[in-house]
Amino acid sequence: AAPKIKLNNGMEIPAIGLGTWQSKPEEVVAAVSHALKEGYRHIDCAWGYGNEKDVGEGIRQSGIPRSDIWITSKLWGTYHSRVEECLDQTLSNLGTDYLDLYLIHWPVPLNPNGNHPVFPTLPNGKRDVDHSWKLSDTWKQMEEMVTKGKVKAIGISNFSVKKMEEILPTATIIPATNQLELHPYNPQHELLAYLKDKGIVPQAYSPLGSTGSPLLKDEVILGIAQEHSIEAADVVLGWLVAKHIIALPKSVTPTRITANLNGAIAGSSKLDKDDIAKIDGLAAAGKQKRFIMPPWPVDLGFDNWPPL
Ligand code: A2P
Repeated sequence: AAPKIKLNNGMEIPAIGLGTWQSKPEEVVAAVSHALKEGYRHIDCAWGYGNEKDVGEGIRQSGIPRSDIWITSKLWGTYHSRVEECLDQTLSNLGTDYLDLYLIHWPVPLNPNGNHPVFPTLPNGKRDVDHSWKLSDTWKQMEEMVTKGKVKAIGISNFSVKKMEEILPTATIIPATNQLELHPYNPQHELLAYLKDKGIVPQAYSPLGSTGSPLLKDEVILGIAQEHSIEAADVVLGWLVAKHIIALPKSVTPTRITANLNGAIAGSSKLDKDDIAKIDGLAAAGKQKRFIMPPWPVDLGFDNWPPL
């Protein structure tokens, strides 16, 4: 089983979870069911991925009891002023009556009218940002979901320090996690130091660099993998877990799903201090790069954000 990481509310979250963004509805049922049968106990999903019903079906097909599984989902932008409405849809999609963790998907409130409802299919291309809505009011509604017992923990995603400072001064619950694009080419060392100081646990999406898993072709990573007789994916995922960052590799391929869980655990125990320092330094050595384009016409406020 994956090691667990303690959150600021005392809960323990499995350090490895299955990512489901870009997993096709017809593929994700089997992917989730396979993952749970192979020992995953953490599934990361979102209203905006458009496949939550299928994730729910995969959970049911696995036969693993709900209470043994950590489920995270995320509030879509058009629902910042209607948090409970979005959450209720998610709960019904997944076929459960609570979430372990609910995140604000992006620090970008969208006008409910004038935006295509589901990401990433945006045929009309509209991006009608509601500049008048305050993130601190979204957070207040997130907190109410904890009080109501519909979610056990709340957090954020894609929040820079600047965006966190829009909610922290009035927060009565400190976000449990901040889910970000994190991998060796975008390690965000300063942001991680800030999160540590605030007691917010980082979660890594697109840990392999998303489609095409470009990190797995890196020569330094391949060298470290060879040294320890493990796979490149084990090095990248093991590096995250060793740094107490929750890794959320996405796959719909059964062999990879299994390999990523076992490899992340093996990798985290095999990497030594020098390996970790080497990987920590890749971005600064000129390899800094992001792979995910935030689809919003706003400055998210990240410092030293690497290019796409
Ligand atoms: P697939 O879902 O077809 O298996 P990330 O986690 O960075 O988003 O990366 C996910 C991408 O990398 C997906 O395209 C996934 O493809 C692929 N992938 C996931 N795990 C592995 C692995 N162990 N080796 C190679 N490719 C992988």
